[in-house]
Amino acid sequence: KTCILIGAPIDDGQKRPGCLMGPAAYRVAGLASMLGELGYPVEDRGDVAPHAVEPGNCANPAVHSLDAVRAWSASLAEAGKAAMQDGFPIFLGGDHSLSLGSVAGVTSHAMEIGRPQFLLWLDAHTDFHTPMTTQSGNLHGTPVAYIAGRDGFDAFPPFPAPLPAENICLFGIRSVDSQEHAALIERDIAIKDMRVLDEHGIVAPLRGFLDRVKAAGGMLHVSLDVDFLDPTIAPAVGTTVPGGATFREAHLVMEMLHETGLVTSLDLVELNPFLDERGRTARLMVDLTASLMGRKVFDRPTRSYA
Ligand code: ARG
Ligand code: MN
Ligand code: MN
Ligand code: MN
Repeated sequence: KTCILIGAPIDDGQKRPGCLMGPAAYRVAGLASMLGELGYPVEDRGDVAPHAVEPGNCANPAVHSLDAVRAWSASLAEAGKAAMQDGFPIFLGGDHSLSLGSVAGVTSHAMEIGRPQFLLWLDAHTDFHTPMTTQSGNLHGTPVAYIAGRDGFDAFPPFPAPLPAENICLFGIRSVDSQEHAALIERDIAIKDMRVLDEHGIVAPLRGFLDRVKAAGGMLHVSLDVDFLDPTIAPAVGTTVPGGATFREAHLVMEMLHETGLVTSLDLVELNPFLDERGRTARLMVDLTASLMGRKVFDRPTRSYA
């Protein structure tokens, strides 16, 4: 399967500049050569340019950069759908608002081929605001609500076939605003928050979701936010939250994803290289992608694993 790199240097979904350098940092950190070494053909389609869109509006005055985000969403949805036809898209962010477009694109492809779309959201945050409920006005806090078909996205094209709650798993959650909490409590979205992961570890909760994807013959999009990781190992993100996934937990998640063979597309989001320390966060994100694609991070002198 060809890995298709799609640069999405979007910075408009939040207020701290720097995510626009993300795609360049992944390229410098050797993403393409790593994939090549694992035996995948790689096609780097460069950075996407935002489409020109008619001006839109939003009744919530806190929302900023609406048209910029709409413009990126339109171009990323198109690029994502096209890439699904040709291989395995990897979206290089860019802040998390890019998933308004990337997941729309991959989902319209799944719809066309008649397969259910699933979503694994690896994040400290639920990103379940709508443009009407966000108080920060940062649209990177909204994509899961859009994908789940919540109201309040009048400025955006209707999401192609919103995902039913059972097709979504939010994993690593530890920062939820009250408006998001109120909306989530009414739905059956699987939320593997840090309390759940502390009690059960990561394996059983993740396996439960992956078994559902497999049973349904689904396509699986993974959206990896840098702040899923603990800030001590991944400092290059504007929205750090203590108590994140450890190095070993994060790699284990990725290895399990590889072993199931279910993942069909990937976002790498929220990397802010301006906040990094000698490239360590960019490199960690590339290494996690390597585990997702089949590289073994630890040697295992045993026969009990593949
Ligand atoms: N819930 C907060 C907000 O809406 C934080 C969102 C953080 N999202 C992210 N993709 N990092 O402003
Ligand atoms: Mn996020
Ligand atoms: Mn986050
Ligand atoms: Mn908020």
